[in-house]
Amino acid sequence: MKQKNPLVVANWKLNPTKLAEAKTLFSETKKKLSKLSSVKVVIAPPAVFIAELSKLSKVEGITLGAQNIFYEERGPFTGEIAAGMVEQFGVSHVIVGHSERRALGESDGQVNKKIQAILKRKMTPIVCIGEKTRDAEGNFFNEIENQIKELARGLTAVELSKLVIAYEPIWAIGTGQTATVEDVKEMQLFIVSTLAKLHERKLAEKIILLYGGSVKASLAKELYEQGGMNGFLVGGASLSAVEFVGIVNATISQK
Ligand code: PGA
Repeated sequence: MKQKNPLVVANWKLNPTKLAEAKTLFSETKKKLSKLSSVKVVIAPPAVFIAELSKLSKVEGITLGAQNIFYEERGPFTGEIAAGMVEQFGVSHVIVGHSERRALGESDGQVNKKIQAILKRKMTPIVCIGEKTRDAEGNFFNEIENQIKELARGLTAVELSKLVIAYEPIWAIGTGQTATVEDVKEMQLFIVSTLAKLHERKLAEKIILLYGGSVKASLAKELYEQGGMNGFLVGGASLSAVEFVGIVNATISQK
């Protein structure tokens, strides 16, 4: 039985290309979601659209997210955006350590600094972890364990309990190759036990875990009910309001 309310996050990445399209997608998604209450929905558009989208009518349970921030508050950092800059527009969650950013050079140390900057602004970091490939010997579990140790470095138990951790196997992102329910469940148990080794089990069980990687509406219900995670981080499918809302609806308890 799941104790926490589900969380479903839309990661629009570098889409759509025009503000008008972003507004339409945002409004359509919100309209279809407006009857929900138990599911928390976060939409993370490209940063330049955040200010405009924050002016559109508010619906309870839906907030804006950012896809990245820099760890300094101000200063000579050309091209960067600070946590405080997005926070003033009502951003509640910030994605950090996404594999597409790690591929551009974001290190574990930077991920850790960004987590601290986001927490300082009272927003929730959604920290992405995930293995590049899977091997029959299970070495990828070491990769995941190391990523968890690095992201948690220097964080207090209270800080750690505020994180959302998104398990996004890199081989599943944008490939159409969704992880199986069994793989997701196994990883959920592994992440909780790794966190429990760092702090205590009670705290580890409090941390919200998401699955991401080619999530589609047709698979979401089974993945949510049996995969053990508390929701999803959705990329490609979040660019269709119908598909994204289908994923959100899959997390609503029928009981
Ligand atoms: P995808 O992306 O759903 O398109 O695989 C997920 C993500 O990268 O967050």
